[in-house]
Amino acid sequence: QASFLHYDSDLLDYLPQQRRKLLLKLAKEASLLGYNLYLVGGQVRDLLINIPLNKDLDILLEGDLKKFFVHLENKYGYQYDYNNKFSTGFLHNQYGFSIDIASCREEKYHFPGSLPLVEKADLFSDLFRRDFTINTLVIDLNPGRSGILYDFFGALNDLKNGILKVMHDYSFRDDPLRILRGIRFQILKDFKLSSKTIEISQRSLRNYDYHKLAIERVFTELSYLFKSKQDLSQFASVLLKEIPVLKLIKSDFEFSSSQKSNFLRAEKLLAQSRENSLGVNHFLVRLMILFYNSKESLIKSWPLSTLEKKIFVNKIWENIDFSIFEIKDPALKYRRLEFFKKEELIMFASLNFESDYIEEIFKHLKRRETLKIPISGHDLLDLGVKQGPEIKKYLLEVRDQILRHQIENREEALTYLKKIL
Ligand code: CTP
Repeated sequence: QASFLHYDSDLLDYLPQQRRKLLLKLAKEASLLGYNLYLVGGQVRDLLINIPLNKDLDILLEGDLKKFFVHLENKYGYQYDYNNKFSTGFLHNQYGFSIDIASCREEKYHFPGSLPLVEKADLFSDLFRRDFTINTLVIDLNPGRSGILYDFFGALNDLKNGILKVMHDYSFRDDPLRILRGIRFQILKDFKLSSKTIEISQRSLRNYDYHKLAIERVFTELSYLFKSKQDLSQFASVLLKEIPVLKLIKSDFEFSSSQKSNFLRAEKLLAQSRENSLGVNHFLVRLMILFYNSKESLIKSWPLSTLEKKIFVNKIWENIDFSIFEIKDPALKYRRLEFFKKEELIMFASLNFESDYIEEIFKHLKRRETLKIPISGHDLLDLGVKQGPEIKKYLLEVRDQILRHQIENREEALTYLKKIL
């Protein structure tokens, strides 16, 4: 549950000094033009629940943003980027964090999921068009009122109770990615979607025309969740029981109970991979588990890297021969297993969870991370081996001997090479 800062005192005192000073300076300049400046969004939410503010600053201007930028440039030489279409901009500063500034605006959606048409508006309308109540809190930055918190939509109460309430019935129709954001907040930030919000998300997903959503946007939002190093077991139950949000990726997505078990097993294996710092691509593994039987053409249309697509489509783990694990010679076993990528072995392990080989797989992957060959190609050249494939061959032979516990250090490696050469 949320632990609150003293929101009856000046909340800006909780900001790092440089940020606080810069914000107040900008607000003073805005007031000279008759404009108002506010701190809004996720950072106010995080500040109130004691999450340190180290992300970029998001501020909102009631006024003409272009004129504000020009004013700052003339007076202080500040550089800026300005986007006329969206009334947003970026102010460069010397401190190394970024400041996004937007003019208060309303967004009109041409069709569900489209990019919005933007119209100038006041603070209230700007907040009203946002996703969840907890993201509508505002801290006034203006001289004489700085540090005061505004709560137009009962956000403090929802924040206190850890509840995610969608702002209005059409919010998810306007932007269905907000459903994914809500699920991310629930799983990663410990909030809970209200029952009405779940209902609205179900309805929006039922009525949604999935063709109109840019897949890149869905993947970006999904990656915030799927790249997480936290346990996502809850995602399986949220998905299965309540919100079929993966329809945003594949409109006929179905979630079977065997997929659910596979996902839960994969979560256990991913946790084990984190304990051993194996650097497994969590996003890819989770995606492969959930979309296991999808058509190749669909997978290839997704914004994945060439390597990720190859791993996904080839499903090489389906053909891993169990006899590999019975090989007695550790060097030969290593050579056979290193042929597979980490994610391929994790997939194999998720789908053959009952097998006795899970431990073997992790032993191998750990070895892969830590194994060092104590000599280099230069040593082999010095010993008279010709440049070319021979070098690699001898390096691997040394590695084999290390795996067989016949060589432990550089001296022993050099002695061994001199003998066989
Ligand atoms: N927002 C929205 N719909 C979206 C994305 C964002 O309404 N699809 C609103 C939210 O109210 C959010 C604000 O825009 O607070 C800023 O968005 P962003 O910086 O992406 O998110 P944060 O809420 O700051 O949270 P986080 O970085 O933790 O995702």
